[in-house]
Amino acid sequence: MDINKYSPKFRLKNKDLLHLADLSTEEIFEILYAAKQMKKKYRVGEIVNILRGKTVGLLFGNVSTRTRVAFELGIRQLGGDYIFLPKNETQLSRGESVKDTAVMLGRFGLSALVLRGFVDAELEEFAAHSDIPVINGISDTAHPLQVLSDIFTVWEKKGKLENLKLAYIGDGNNVANSLIIGCSKCDMNISIASPSGYSPVKSVVERGMQFGDVVITDSIAEAVRDADIVYTDVFISMSDEDDEQKKAKLEKYRVTKDVMALAKEDALFMHCMPVRRGEEVTADVADGPQSIMYDQAENRLHLNKAVLALLMNER
Ligand code: CP
Repeated sequence: MDINKYSPKFRLKNKDLLHLADLSTEEIFEILYAAKQMKKKYRVGEIVNILRGKTVGLLFGNVSTRTRVAFELGIRQLGGDYIFLPKNETQLSRGESVKDTAVMLGRFGLSALVLRGFVDAELEEFAAHSDIPVINGISDTAHPLQVLSDIFTVWEKKGKLENLKLAYIGDGNNVANSLIIGCSKCDMNISIASPSGYSPVKSVVERGMQFGDVVITDSIAEAVRDADIVYTDVFISMSDEDDEQKKAKLEKYRVTKDVMALAKEDALFMHCMPVRRGEEVTADVADGPQSIMYDQAENRLHLNKAVLALLMNER
């Protein structure tokens, strides 16, 4: 489906945003159009107070710069309030159940809950016991808001999504999983090049193949050939132990100028950040003219605001 021919209604049927697989292509487009509108209003300084009187809980189990700041500032910009709850300072860290936490947070009057650093089973349990929207700010298997922001950024830069090719190089982690589902649902082709043992999980790849063209390979050249976008992420994710063996296997999967030269001439470089220059990408690529990683990062703000507005049935 061509996003440029889609007419947004600025409505979402989904109450929660846990995984991109739960969203239809139309629902993804609704979010992307809402992000475009949010960004336009932000740029012209239009005041949008749609979260006035509402408080969002930010329950974070791991560290964050982009996700936290994009939510905290975004909620303020929409006239709302938030409570930042580090998981290790709540009774969850001492064994209180997810169910009791979820029910109680709703009773106290939170209007939405963002969870970061939880496993999928906990996300599902929070959603099952919450009357308020539950949003996945990163889990062990997925990073849906990051990838929605990435796809929004691609749409901005390339003017379309359909038939573009994104090549992901490196560890088949939660970002790679969400890219597979997000790109395939938006009619983008995605190729993942990873060393053996570090490909994305089979169930996610099979799910992505139901929606679009997904190629899994160990060949960087095959993945990057004719790519419009080359994407990478850190070798060792936050949820992983430092692993020298894994780093050694991924060493050859660094995005360099030579790798970029295998893609289309006008290919863009993307990274969800934080970046480790010299590990998964060389500095001349990360800071070079093809890199759009700071645009991706900025768009986290507009995208998060759009998601809050849509899930809380406002715009
Ligand atoms: N990309 C991303 O999620 O950034 P943070 O870890 O800083 O939130």
